[in-house]
Amino acid sequence: PTPDAILVRASILHFLADPGEQGDASAWAHFPDGALFIQSGRVQKCGDWRTVLEALPTLTRDSARYFDYRGKLLMPGFVDTHVHYPQLRVMGSWGRQLLDWLNDYTFPAEKSLADIEVARKTASFFLDRLLAHGTTTASVFATVHPHSVDVFFEEAQKRNLRMLCGKVMMDRNCPPDLRDTAEDSLRDGHALIERWHGKGRLGYSVTPRFAPTSTSGQLQAAAELFRSRPGMHLQSHLSENHGEMAWVRELFPDCRDYLDVYESHGLVGRGAIYGHGIHLSPAEMARLAESETAIAFCPTSNLFLGSGFCAHADLMRAGVSLGLATDVGGGSSLSMLRTMAAAYEVGQAGGQTLSAWRAWYMATLGAARALALDEHIGSFLPGREADFVVLDPQAIPELAYRTGFAESLEEQLFALMMLGDDRCIAATHIMGERVWQSGTHRSDPLA
Ligand code: GUN
Ligand code: ZN
Repeated sequence: PTPDAILVRASILHFLADPGEQGDASAWAHFPDGALFIQSGRVQKCGDWRTVLEALPTLTRDSARYFDYRGKLLMPGFVDTHVHYPQLRVMGSWGRQLLDWLNDYTFPAEKSLADIEVARKTASFFLDRLLAHGTTTASVFATVHPHSVDVFFEEAQKRNLRMLCGKVMMDRNCPPDLRDTAEDSLRDGHALIERWHGKGRLGYSVTPRFAPTSTSGQLQAAAELFRSRPGMHLQSHLSENHGEMAWVRELFPDCRDYLDVYESHGLVGRGAIYGHGIHLSPAEMARLAESETAIAFCPTSNLFLGSGFCAHADLMRAGVSLGLATDVGGGSSLSMLRTMAAAYEVGQAGGQTLSAWRAWYMATLGAARALALDEHIGSFLPGREADFVVLDPQAIPELAYRTGFAESLEEQLFALMMLGDDRCIAATHIMGERVWQSGTHRSDPLA
């Protein structure tokens, strides 16, 4: 028997594929009385409690550490496909749409991370709050300062998290003290990749902010970084706001549309993900699918900044890989439950169907796929890293009451995503280990 074996009992749900708009039952596995057996931080077995237990040697079973979450729902940890850690302090800032919001709130906030201690404290607080919300992996924008990436990865490494992050590249149309050059960003990018990419559970994501804040030369530098190693990631923004789109047409008059700016610079392909993608043509959707470039769907941000309603069902029908994202600080919550609720509401406003099944898929396996991380996380297939969240619908009285009238798992899941928030996060585990538990109110989960 291995001393690090862990056995967990709960109602267990995970996805194996996209359930589609209606919910194809072959896309998920649900064990009402389930077992998750973990060794060395990885899933060994996931299934029905009796079946899993009977297959385990007695000695292994008896020496495993045991977590009893009966009555609660256990799922793979949430994956936030697009979020800005330096923007925590501008969440909930009044009255602006994208371009004014960037100038009035966001750039000043990002300047404050010029101080490495501010950056470290912000990264540490951010990661603790992700875990409190049941989010175990995220694709994260830092700032233009290379040290903002170093401290983020150091804090992620301390917590043993699978995280993506990158230094923001911006060499025009921004305050001088947030500006780099194509050469700076190439040199700093190579050094950061060397230091962090593939180190443990960490991955580097090349991060040109968006087309308006990079020259063509810097977008070329970004492509060079993206191609510098196999398995590299890339994140940016695409078609979020009408003012932004008009600006992109002015700055890149030779490009046929917004996506073409990134395509013509070599910034698409597997591992690349763009935030928003609200105002895309059918041709752009088809080209995203063709190149395996993903979209991060950020519904609370799209509502908060008045950006519009993402056509998420059309995108998925076109074959685009879509993951849910908070986009904090444009987004108004770190909670993936609140984000699922907003996704449904955006769909109601924009004529796009979203089933409960699809929403939960887009917050777990679908998001892991959109980040090209599904070989590691997102489901409980044997060998996957055992990052998971334990959800408790009883934690909110009106949700508990509503759940009492639910006649199916689908109804329970829908009520949970519409009425739930971080109060429902009973526990969060990383590589099998419990790092957060509700009611303990620790600001440092490992203290
Ligand atoms: N476009 C360029 N930068 C940003 C940002 O920080 N947030 C959002 N929502 N959109 C952007
Ligand atoms: Zn963003």
